[in-house]
Amino acid sequence: MKQETTTTRTPPTGTPHIAAAPGDFAPLVLMPGDPRRARHIAETFLKDARQVTDVRGILGYTGTHLGVPMSVLASGMGIPSMSIYATELFRHYDVRRIVRVGTAGAIPLSVSLRDVIIASAAHTDSSVSGLLVGGVTLSLTPSYRLLRAAADAARWEEPVHIGPVFSSDHFYLDRPGVFDALAGRGTLAVEMEAAGLYAVAGAEGGEALAVLTASDHVRTGEALSAEERETCFDRAVRIAAAALLA
Ligand code: HPA
Repeated sequence: MKQETTTTRTPPTGTPHIAAAPGDFAPLVLMPGDPRRARHIAETFLKDARQVTDVRGILGYTGTHLGVPMSVLASGMGIPSMSIYATELFRHYDVRRIVRVGTAGAIPLSVSLRDVIIASAAHTDSSVSGLLVGGVTLSLTPSYRLLRAAADAARWEEPVHIGPVFSSDHFYLDRPGVFDALAGRGTLAVEMEAAGLYAVAGAEGGEALAVLTASDHVRTGEALSAEERETCFDRAVRIAAAALLA
């Protein structure tokens, strides 16, 4: 008997968390955390963008970028939220590539506010890396093809750093010394979603990458305003879109 494909199992009204019909998403998806950032990306980077979902205020749009169909969907905050949306996109909407475009807290002084960070690995304090394969702590890494394409595109968008990030379950992490220890191991920034995206992509056979913008600094305490956080990440989006198209 022919095996049912995942797409045919998608109800016409959508999945539990995405109210879009099969075919409403392009195979290439940009994923900011914030729904308003998703709308901003749709308005500024996509041509002929139409809204395809708004369940729980998590906005999604599909249009084209340089003539190629491309979508944008917010992930919400944290690994659990990212894992839900990334799984539903890969499993039910035939999405092939997701690039997260989010903000992060810079860890070493060599990374400044507004710098772009391409996450070549995601350390995490989440249970996600231990849950997937019994007895094994999985390394959570991006697609090499996307990483290489992003590194190529980064040459025109400096300053850009490429290295591991820390995906934490705790925004208000209160563990003295943890950032020193991570910095000592080359970790560039802290955020809350990349490890979940990389874990889901690995499990679902998709490709993923995170391209982040330093919106605050864990050493100096500097931070961008809420308004600038919404709009300062154009360089990261250009790198992410170039990687999706590669
Ligand atoms: N911590 C966690 N996530 C973040 C931060 C941070 O400092 N900045 C932006 N996302």
